[in-house]
Formats: sequence, C-alpha cells, structure tokens
Amino acid sequence: MLDLDNATVQFQSPGGPVVRAVDGVSLHVPAGQFVVVIGTNGSGKSTLQGAIAGTVRLSSGHIRLAGHDITDWSQHARAGLIGRVFQDPRAGTAGSLTVLENLAVAACRGRFPGFGWATDRRLREEAASRLGRIVPGLEQRLEQSIGSMSGGQRQIVTLLMATWHRPELLLLDEHTAALDPAAADRVVQATAGLIREGRLTALMVTHSLAQAASLGDRLILVHRGRIELDVEGPAKRRLTPDDLADRFDALRRADQLDDAAARTLADLYV
Ligand SMILES: Nc1ncnc2c1ncn2[C@@H]1O[C@H](COP(=O)(O)OP(=O)(O)OP(=O)(O)O)[C@@H](O)[C@H]1O
Ligand SMILES: [Mg+2]
Repeated sequence: MLDLDNATVQFQSPGGPVVRAVDGVSLHVPAGQFVVVIGTNGSGKSTLQGAIAGTVRLSSGHIRLAGHDITDWSQHARAGLIGRVFQDPRAGTAGSLTVLENLAVAACRGRFPGFGWATDRRLREEAASRLGRIVPGLEQRLEQSIGSMSGGQRQIVTLLMATWHRPELLLLDEHTAALDPAAADRVVQATAGLIREGRLTALMVTHSLAQAASLGDRLILVHRGRIELDVEGPAKRRLTPDDLADRFDALRRADQLDDAAARTLADLYV
C-alpha cells in the first residue's frame, strides 16, 4: 500500500522561476493495484516517481509505503521496498555480464555480497523457470551476455530483476518508449503478466494511450504536477484511447487560454 499525503516537490533554478513539479498530490494506492500514469511532457510524472523512490526530496508532505513512513528514508533504504525500470534498456542491467549473472545480482541484492551464487544450480533453475514463464525460449539464453541482446529482451530481464524479491512497489517510467512497437508489445505483455502473477502494486508511466486504456486497474492523468483525472473500476475499463486523446486536447486548450490570459495581463502591466 502506497500513500501520498499532500506531496509537493519544488525546483528552483538559479535566477529562474520556482517550478512545482509535484503540487500537493494526495493519493492512496491499495496493495495489489496496478496504476497507469499518463500526462503531457513536463507534467511531473517522473518527479512523482523520483519522490517515491527517494531520488528527489519532497519540499513538503509525506509518503507511506507498506506501513512505513518513508518520507525521510534514503534512496538506498527505499530500494529494499521498491523495484524500478526506466526507459533506457541499458540502465537496469550490466551489459558485460550474462543474463544469469545479472539475475544473480538481483537475487543476491540485500542478501549476501558477491554473485558467486550465479553458478549455483538452484539459482540457474529458478532463473530459467522464471524467464521461460515470461518469454518461452528466453531461458535457453542464460549464458548470453546481456549486451548482445535486443532492447526488448533486455527490458524483460530488467523487469525480472526489479521484481525478483516481490517489491512492495514497482515503478515503471516509460519502460517501453525506446522499443519498436512489436518489442514494446512483448514487454507490455510481460509486465502485465508479472504484475498479475505477483499481485504487485505498480505505478506505470506511459505515453501510449493504447497501453493506458487497455492496462491496469486504475488510470491517473497528471497535469502541471496535479492529478487531473483518476478513474478505476468499470469507468476505467470503459476508457478508450480516443477518450484520453480528448482529455489531452481539452487540457491543451485550457493551457492555451491560460497562456493567452497571462499574456494579456502582462501587456496590461507593461
Ligand atoms: N532536477 C530538476 N531541476 C529543475 N527542474 C526540474 C528538475 N527535474 C524536473 N524539473 C522540472 O519539473 C517539471 C516536471 O518534470 P518531469 O520530468 O517530472 O516531467 P514528466 O511528466 O516526467 O515529463 P516527460 O513526459 O517529458 O518525461 C518540468 O517542468 C521539469 O522541467
Ligand atoms: Mg518523465
């Protein structure tokens, strides 16, 4: 279970304006819920995930995860509860290691140092079984170096690493955006399967309206650091990509009106 209470993140660039990238967000995500997050560029989606993971500090507000108030926890301490996957397929895996060695790193994380366990038969069997369940055939490639695999295969290994110890929360930030459509589709199917099988709590950021409409139990639209739309249950299941495109158009029109009003005000005061 994840709880954000009035979470705010402000950025102040030297001499520049204060940007409220996350603006008083309160959000309750029950355990096991799969939440899809959409929003225009710069609306605050990645900052929200960074604030939850501890790479970005809250300016005010509180975050609770799995019964802990993690607001003041370090990023390192939170990593024990949170799995993350980013857009760049190279970000989550070590290219010079084999698939099995990468999975061994994830399996050993927080357990004991080193990855000598990679040669352990039990780990090999477990890794083969988990990989083969997500993408049949991939379990044949445990000895292959990750660097020689496609972006989609690499993201699937990253997903398996991020969920190896069943995290309290899985954060996905446009993790299929750098892939071609066919690979993106395979990674999305793998993601949905892992979340469903593990009954994981997940926040998945995407720019794909098709993914946003078809995946998840709940959809959140972020705009200017705030939650503009929050739907779940039958209303979520009825949403189509066109409905979401209409929402985006409405927000863009409202922004243009705001900009025009700001320009008029600025003209009045010159
Ligand atoms: N470290 C930072 N310092 C200053 N401003 C930042 C910083 N990180 C993000 N911002 C600003 O905060 C706002 C939200 O950015 P964020 O990256 O969270 O948006 P996003 O919704 O993830 O966008 P995208 O869809 O392009 O990934 C933007 O205005 C951005 O310029
Ligand atoms: Mg982002």
